[in-house]
Amino acid sequence: MQPLRIGLLGIGTVGGGTVKLLQNNADEITRRLGRELIITRAASRNIERTREICGHNTLISDDIFDVVNAPDVDVVVELIGGTTVAKDAVVQSIKNGKHIVTANKKLLAEYGNEIFQQAAVHNVMVMYEAAVAGGIPIIKALREGLAANHIESIAGIINGTSNFILSEMRANGSTFTDALKQAQILGYAEADPTFDIEGHDAGHKLSIISALAFGTPINFSQCYLEGISHLESLDICYAEELGYRIKLLGITRKTPEGIELRVHPTLIPESRLLAKVEGVMNAVSVQADMIGQTLYYGAGAGAGPTASAVMADIIDVTRLQNAEASYRVPYLAFQSNSLQNISILPMDEITSSYYLRVSACDEPGVLGEIANILAAENISIEALIQKGIINKESAEIVILTHSTKERLIKQSIARIQALPRVLSPVTMIRMESLHPR
Ligand code: HSE
Repeated sequence: MQPLRIGLLGIGTVGGGTVKLLQNNADEITRRLGRELIITRAASRNIERTREICGHNTLISDDIFDVVNAPDVDVVVELIGGTTVAKDAVVQSIKNGKHIVTANKKLLAEYGNEIFQQAAVHNVMVMYEAAVAGGIPIIKALREGLAANHIESIAGIINGTSNFILSEMRANGSTFTDALKQAQILGYAEADPTFDIEGHDAGHKLSIISALAFGTPINFSQCYLEGISHLESLDICYAEELGYRIKLLGITRKTPEGIELRVHPTLIPESRLLAKVEGVMNAVSVQADMIGQTLYYGAGAGAGPTASAVMADIIDVTRLQNAEASYRVPYLAFQSNSLQNISILPMDEITSSYYLRVSACDEPGVLGEIANILAAENISIEALIQKGIINKESAEIVILTHSTKERLIKQSIARIQALPRVLSPVTMIRMESLHPR
């Protein structure tokens, strides 16, 4: 059989890792596949480096369209990132009848629906295991391993940079700023870390896996994004004292009213496996009707882990290259004519439990006023403690609520903040029990 001919776009960390993986593991892969894989062409801005990495058997260019339009390329592996050049390259490759393997979560979150439509017209595969949680085969699990289930919810730690920062803040009592600096020194966070710390990266990934779980188009524009930059060490400490950890979670849940799709810091009980995921590691917990809860853990970034996912996709493409479309796994796990436009719930309509921290005068009756406001909205209190006396006259009250609608907690917070004896804005962090069923 002819070897599968790969055209590589982008020779950064992941591109370089992919070439190295193929050099190291070619025999093992051929033993599985019964067919050789060769990188016929590669394009990158740094020709010298690309030649050094790929060797002399690969045609090198600094023009991505030399790869995209080449007749000797069966699959284009897009590892450029972003949504400008990468989008043009992917769309043109599809029009040229080439299969796509990409690690580009932003591209798929923002343009995936249109890209999959184009791919169907041209009868090519678009594979994207590396786009979510790096090396963890979560796309494979959702599209294939769990295909017999109704998936009910997913909760994941899907941004390693944020998880590293939160781990540092908890373990060493660091401030957010110091923990971020440490992440930058270690090369986990970019010079401009916005994308990671404000929840965008996690939102891209969550939107993709939510679509796969529930059989909808990708709905990134409606995903709620809240990052970790406003978190205070104090709340991480209080949460810990109460038996909780704070994690940046991507949460998606199907409810009778619609789908919840949200990224935000979340208190979770320390006994949950997700609570024990530290540093840059990722983990995704999936709740489904037949299997119950399953957990997928591993490296969410880095050359080797991400290349592992890229190569697994290339292997799948090789196996199914000549198969009819009906033999392939649908792009978004469900047949494209069966995708459902289920509405994404506005945040006011989601259901969650809440952690509230209120600074108030330490006087008789204050606690009662706060409890009355919550009771008026039918919000039940799970725990309530007075913490950290700020000075002789004021104190901090930490309240954990049972689950309620977000609209009701927001109304209550507005009323609590309006109390004359409440001294500063109320801190609110969402809380999830993540109960395995
Ligand atoms: N920057 C991401 C993270 C990895 O910190 O998890 C790539 O999506």
